[in-house]
Amino acid sequence: FVDKAVAAANLLHRDELMFSYKGIPYPTTICSPEAFKALESFEARSDDVILAGYPKSGTNWLSQILTDLIAISQKKTLGEESGNAEEPEEFPYLEVGDPEKYERMIKLPSPRFMVTHLRPENLPTSIFKNKVKILLLIRNPKDIATSFYHFSNGLATLPSYETWDDFFTDFMSKKIAWGCYFEYLSEWNKYVDKENIMTVTYEELKENRALGVKNIAAFFGIPLTEEELQLVVERSSFQSMKKNSEKTHGAFGNVLFRKGAVSDWKNLFSEDQNEKMDKMFEECLAGTKLGKKLKY
Ligand code: A3P
Repeated sequence: FVDKAVAAANLLHRDELMFSYKGIPYPTTICSPEAFKALESFEARSDDVILAGYPKSGTNWLSQILTDLIAISQKKTLGEESGNAEEPEEFPYLEVGDPEKYERMIKLPSPRFMVTHLRPENLPTSIFKNKVKILLLIRNPKDIATSFYHFSNGLATLPSYETWDDFFTDFMSKKIAWGCYFEYLSEWNKYVDKENIMTVTYEELKENRALGVKNIAAFFGIPLTEEELQLVVERSSFQSMKKNSEKTHGAFGNVLFRKGAVSDWKNLFSEDQNEKMDKMFEECLAGTKLGKKLKY
């Protein structure tokens, strides 16, 4: 899927790589206004499993953990042959794909796993109406910006940047794919008290992956033996995912599994940029629930 998008992006001029939908930029080669329109009437099921996270918050990492947990759960209920975590039938990113994808998803067995970078107000209303469980993943905005800069320069579907300073300016002025991270967090902040939403930080998972996996499994009602827990924990280490990335992500894996570290922003941010982001954080997030949860 990504290889196709990259080939399409190579034929486009830099200015054509993004389009705007409801005021937010998205990559032309993987999203479309038609798909966004079709998504509005998508009927979520109460047993769908949704991972929500802004780009570069570690969504591929948590996808690995969640697909493994779902496979373990399905093996217990449906038998050994079920739950092939390696081959999802649809690209799991909800807003990425053709408009017919949502029709095809009706035929997928439960539980369907999906990932989204969208803000809650741009998600289909059936998700909230049916109280679908959502794992919300957040990460320090400085590390998100750092990861996003390298990713933009490594993947043809996104505009590349000659300098980090140029990227930082676009990041702060909401000109990057999926829009402003601070606005994203402010919007999700309105939902974090709901019982069907669990928030995890990238940083707490780095600190204690076993505890994180245990809590996530409990939230989704998936019982785990100690052995199963260890398996999920081992398979989701950065080293193991990077090693497997050619199989799981093709050439895209090289760009995606970059450092997997906390505080890499210190290698890029100038004093002035650091102050600007701190000010933005204070203004938009510091007093909010998500702001307090964020390892900032
Ligand atoms: P870095 O660029 O800082 O290395 P996403 O999947 O949302 O695009 O996020 C990508 C980020 O998650 C990258 O951050 C990537 O290295 C990191 N990541 C991926 N797998 C990881 C893992 N198993 N452990 C820690 N970080 C991981």
